[in-house]
Amino acid sequence: MASPHDPFADARASAQLAVAADTEGRAASAADHYERAALTISKVAQRMRAHGGVPAPGIETAGAQYADRARALRATLKPAKPAEQPGFLSCELAKIAGLGLAKRVLEEAVIEPFLNPGVYTGLRAPPRGVLLFGPPGTGKTLLARAVSREAKACFLSVSASALTSKWVGEGEKMVRALFSVARRYAPSVVFVDEVDSLLSKRSAGENDASRRIKTEFLVQMDGVTTGEGDRVLVMGATNRPDELDDAVIRRFQRRVLIPLPDAAGRKTMLASLVAGEVTALTKAEASQIVSMTKGYSGSDVRSLCEEAAQGPVREARASLRPGERLDASALPPLRKRHFVEALRVVRPSVPPESLAMYEDWARAYAVRS
Ligand SMILES: Nc1ncnc2c1ncn2[C@@H]1O[C@H](COP(=O)(O)OP(=O)(O)OP(=O)(O)O)[C@@H](O)[C@H]1O
Ligand SMILES: [Mg+2]
Repeated sequence: MASPHDPFADARASAQLAVAADTEGRAASAADHYERAALTISKVAQRMRAHGGVPAPGIETAGAQYADRARALRATLKPAKPAEQPGFLSCELAKIAGLGLAKRVLEEAVIEPFLNPGVYTGLRAPPRGVLLFGPPGTGKTLLARAVSREAKACFLSVSASALTSKWVGEGEKMVRALFSVARRYAPSVVFVDEVDSLLSKRSAGENDASRRIKTEFLVQMDGVTTGEGDRVLVMGATNRPDELDDAVIRRFQRRVLIPLPDAAGRKTMLASLVAGEVTALTKAEASQIVSMTKGYSGSDVRSLCEEAAQGPVREARASLRPGERLDASALPPLRKRHFVEALRVVRPSVPPESLAMYEDWARAYAVRS
């Protein structure tokens, strides 16, 4: 207990309030109190040292932990309307190439019900969990963001590392706090990227803390599933669907494969990536590039174009006279040969043999076209 002469009495009182708020899931208030406690401790300790005193043992470590916790709370729970987040404006569903089936499913299962909740009640109630799975770099994260933007929902993005804590019981509290914020700001999307690392199969050897976080997440997802009226959607993205816990798979009621882009998808991507450049590509050459990129993911196609765009710069630099500077307006246009060179540098990042796993998993669990 704090004695009247305890120089840290104020800090301890703030910490008590913080823990109380944290337990009840009032995250913003908890963060405020933790910050106040941390700040007071460091000020008082500094003052004591200046006067030759010694702060109580352990108090500064506690202060540092309060600061950590406040930061963690703020990071996980920062709700932001999509339009306020930088980079989100460019993230429109229409700008994502290909992925027709996925877009259709998301439109029907998420966007429409969010915008027009009156129609989607009872049997028509939308799924509360949607899983996007597929090879890396195929636009899963992009899609999730675009969906929350189109649905005009609050977007809460969380990662497994933000929810796992070295303190016993902390992770579960964060999960509860996360969902309580999501309900308060509904309609909202709780997006768990790389969901496999948070909700992998529960195993005998795993530590207790991570098992409890999983359980709490499942309980909260169920709360979301049964709660009428509060429109909270949990959206997960993963490239390891086979590692997900069965109970998790069940709670993601719609599971959509996000495959490698087909020729049409790669063509659209190529066109939009080179749109801002001066090019001398004929239609035929563009189609040849598209067929040479079979097996490339969306992010591979992007890297390829970035590498190809260096080609004209290299050529222009090679022909500079000593002391002369490169002039942007004098760059030669982007040509097919630049792409051919880039194809040697930028190789596909998804091993073909890994594709079978996604196909098998999709056959068993996913929405069919
Ligand atoms: N269908 C697409 N349309 C347009 N750009 C795409 C598409 N797919 C991928 N890209 C490009 O690739 C980048 C990476 O995409 P994103 O981060 O969404 O992949 P991901 O599927 O989430 O990958 P990971 O599984 O590794 O997290 C995007 O920023 C974008 O530039
Ligand atoms: Mg991703």
